[in-house]
Amino acid sequence: MTRNAPLRRLALASLIGVLAGCSSPEAPTNQAPQPKPAHATSRVDHHSFSNPEQMVVRHVSLDLSVDFEERTLQGSASLDVERIDSSTNTLFLDTRDLNIAGTYCGEQAVPFNLGDTDQHLGTPLSIELSSDCQRVRIDYATSPDASGLQWLSPQQTAGKKHPFLFSQAQAIHARSFIPLQDSPGVRITYDATIRTSPELMAVMSASNDPNAERDGVYEFNMPQRIPSYLIAIAVGDIHFKPMGERTGIYSEPAYLDAAAAEFEDTEAMLIATEKVYGKYRWDRYDLLILPPSFPFGGMENPRLSFITPTVLAGDKSLVSLIAHELAHSWSGNTVTNATWRDLWMNEGFTTYLTYRIMEIVYGKEREAMEFVLGYGDLQADIGDLVADDTILAIDMKGRDPDAVFSNIPYEKGALFLRELEQRIGRAEFDAFLLKYFEHFAFQSITTAQFEKYLREELLSAHPEAISPERLAKWIHQPGIPEGAPEPSSPAFEMVDSARNAWLTGEISAADIPSGDWAFHQWMHFLQGMPDSLSLQQMEALDAAYDFTASRNNEIAHVWLMLSVEHWYENAFDRLHNYLVTIGRNKLVKPLYRELAKTPEGRAFGAKAFAQARDGYHPLTVKTNLPFVLEKVDDQ
Ligand code: BES
Ligand code: ZN
Repeated sequence: MTRNAPLRRLALASLIGVLAGCSSPEAPTNQAPQPKPAHATSRVDHHSFSNPEQMVVRHVSLDLSVDFEERTLQGSASLDVERIDSSTNTLFLDTRDLNIAGTYCGEQAVPFNLGDTDQHLGTPLSIELSSDCQRVRIDYATSPDASGLQWLSPQQTAGKKHPFLFSQAQAIHARSFIPLQDSPGVRITYDATIRTSPELMAVMSASNDPNAERDGVYEFNMPQRIPSYLIAIAVGDIHFKPMGERTGIYSEPAYLDAAAAEFEDTEAMLIATEKVYGKYRWDRYDLLILPPSFPFGGMENPRLSFITPTVLAGDKSLVSLIAHELAHSWSGNTVTNATWRDLWMNEGFTTYLTYRIMEIVYGKEREAMEFVLGYGDLQADIGDLVADDTILAIDMKGRDPDAVFSNIPYEKGALFLRELEQRIGRAEFDAFLLKYFEHFAFQSITTAQFEKYLREELLSAHPEAISPERLAKWIHQPGIPEGAPEPSSPAFEMVDSARNAWLTGEISAADIPSGDWAFHQWMHFLQGMPDSLSLQQMEALDAAYDFTASRNNEIAHVWLMLSVEHWYENAFDRLHNYLVTIGRNKLVKPLYRELAKTPEGRAFGAKAFAQARDGYHPLTVKTNLPFVLEKVDDQ
């Protein structure tokens, strides 16, 4: 369903109200903002019911109690509003499954109305404000099934003693725990008082005090203007361990030491990024290590990135995730996509920055390997997705952002910037990006704004570097333009010949010259296996390298994919265990999808899913459910 349909219905209801003579200011409002045609401006956010062009929220003040018994947050959100259009008295907010108890201006109750629910977008909340009302308070409670929250029982945590709560708001789930204008085009500051039991600690994407007295009441402040999808909270048996001057780890005690060792280069990454792209604008940069059910690898919540524990490999092999979330402090958090159509600017710029940071901190060779692996992911998606879904500035209207997630905005976006870098020259392109972050700091911008800035500030001086047609191809057309950069890695060429020698029977598995191979080389080795791989070959590899027991979750993932494809049952205990202990969608979804291709596989998946479901995040449930149901088309 589109954004405009429910609004049109609201407008009709309002008209009926007027005709029936019940338009007194006290009556619950049904007045909707005029629906805007989609082409009027590319700032139109098809994923929000809010009306910031008429009345915009500037600050959110939260006072919430965390109820682990009921699995609810309850309390109030007070919103400071500014009128842009003085003829409008109706504030439109986004909600999803919220229980609204009342809305107030000062002590005065004001009328509100919940509109029709859209399956992707939730339910619009309209509040009628008198012209002198500048702060509205909404008393509310969340639903135990809030799509943006996961509630874990003590049994589902590492420590087993205390419950755990965390949020994941991107893309449109903030509305399931706060009534607000849930659009990345709207920036707010926020403060919060979080009340919980004294043995628990609360942290947020805001100023955190590791030495805060553990008394169950925690205060937060986020003085920089951020989009709503960056509001985040976690509550549990959370402790702190410093790493560098501005960096540290928050987590359950079980992960603290391992994470501080694995991510000890975070401070160096921060310093490296500042040198190229300008000063870090967010004060501290800490990491929160979540339980393994966290549905993403990481989430760039400002000052406090949320991180999956599945990257604690013991050898720093997966730390590009930290470089990625850190890089979002520039691309994403300082300069933000205005709508979800513009997501490629958040993720593509960040992926490009990640490669650059990895090169500075770990060297060209490692960066080249990561670039080749990313390029492989991109090629795979280009092959799998319908053409229109390989466009950077993708049409998202009427679609659930959770269902459109792919490597395209990440790797195609990064490849595009890589081409610009190569054609313009690194020094000048770096200077351009530095200026870009400066120019648009704390703004939410559209693809069109970026294109204009690029033309005026860079391409006008380099008309020969890239033609307008080619630019349009990169941003607005499917696939990868011919002649785009193609990464290569000498370290992978060695792997290719070793794999070939083994596949053709020249050498045995044990004789593969892999003594000093890095994690990335092993990934490349496994990802390059042909469809014709036999069970005997799987067994030989496993006997030589024990992939089934790999403690690196990315290696294990590729191995388990091969195991499902070739029905290598020796790995199925590990596969079951993997599926029931990890909730990170990127790791489990491809496994469920592959399993769903055969009836036996689907039954195997269904069994694991049934056992894991209670511990999965709502998003992981929503994404994978279709693959375990008896008869449903593949996604
Ligand atoms: N911001 C994203 C996660 C995200 C994107 C959530 C869109 C919801 C909608 C985060 O920075 C991210 O990209 N995570 C990746 C990390 C990887 C690319 C290093 C992930 O979770 O796998
Ligand atoms: Zn990202």
